Amino acid sequence: MAEALRILGIAGSLRAGSLNRALLRAAVDLAPEGMTIEPFDLIDVPLYNGDVEAAGDPPGVAAFKQAIAAADGVLFATPEYNHGVPGVMKNAIDWASRPPREAPLGAKPVGIIGASPGQTGTARGQSQLRQAFEFTNSYCMPQPELLVFRAHEKFDGEGQLSDEATAAYLQRYLEAFGAWVRRFRTPGD
Ligand SMILES: Cc1cc2nc3c(=O)[nH]c(=O)nc-3n(C[C@H](O)[C@H](O)[C@H](O)COP(=O)(O)O)c2cc1C
Repeated sequence: MAEALRILGIAGSLRAGSLNRALLRAAVDLAPEGMTIEPFDLIDVPLYNGDVEAAGDPPGVAAFKQAIAAADGVLFATPEYNHGVPGVMKNAIDWASRPPREAPLGAKPVGIIGASPGQTGTARGQSQLRQAFEFTNSYCMPQPELLVFRAHEKFDGEGQLSDEATAAYLQRYLEAFGAWVRRFRTPGD
């Protein structure tokens, strides 16, 4: 049997009570057989600065880029801020898009999920993220999508996913994502 898929999970929110961090934790728990999801915290990724980059990636950036490079695929759980991708998430992607021809996000299978208390469940933020992945030349799974709307009603006081329908959608999403990532594996991986 093929080796288990190693998926890196990234939430675009730093706050402890984040719905997107909670969604990622649920993904860790619901990952199908043959897939492990390891969350990576963006707290140590500084604001992108070309001068800093020219002097050498700071430790938090180097660790982030290495974690992406070592993963078979990356799962992004994005909030939506002002109809777009929050700066925390976009900034991390900007670092990981460089250097252009050797960027860890280049030719990497990626997936997008997101949660917000609003009715549209990060639809616009997810669209914007997809656009960024065109430029990074990442293989972004087109379907299915997972938009967790009214997300504050779907997690309990401990941040555990308590909505059964959302858990079932997430499970199906992860199964599809596993199949997507495997498409880009070379035989023997
Ligand atoms: C600056 C800011 C802008 C926001 N803009 C949107 C928005 O455009 N659409 C939306 O659905 N929610 C918006 N929200 C609400 C967020 O979806 C909500 O705070 C969510 O819980 C953030 O994600 P997190 O829980 O993972 O931190 C915004 C929140 C902030 C702080």
